[in-house]
Amino acid sequence: MEDKELIEVARKYREFSYSPYSKFKVGAAVLTKQGHVYGGCNIENSSYPVTNCAERTAIFKAVSEGEKEFAALAVIADTEGPCSPCGACRQVMGEFHINKIIMANLHGAVKVVTLEELLPYAFSSKDL
Ligand code: THU
Repeated sequence: MEDKELIEVARKYREFSYSPYSKFKVGAAVLTKQGHVYGGCNIENSSYPVTNCAERTAIFKAVSEGEKEFAALAVIADTEGPCSPCGACRQVMGEFHINKIIMANLHGAVKVVTLEELLPYAFSSKDL
């Protein structure tokens, strides 16, 4: 699957965003090594910290369907530049070795980075 196709899935899932508090809609899509795609959106809560980001929604959906091998993740929002994942999502991407992250915005900006670039010196199972 091409990067732009994964971005389009993320864009579609952004429309499902439940973000009545921030009004900031985020969409994500994760691609498995076998070619399956799972989309997600941010899901907010009146107890703000309970909010789940779009990236983690997509990853948790996939993992809960038995997926553990991932090729890439795309994330999109109405940001000035490509949407950058938060720290918690970076840590979850690290857990599942999602090494290619495609950051995008609604206006066509795209930046592809590695997990190592996003989360250097990551804490991992090797540290336990
Ligand atoms: N958000 C995401 O969905 N992904 C990120 O990587 C950054 C932040 C959401 C959480 C919250 O619903 C809204 O964006 C504003 O922080």
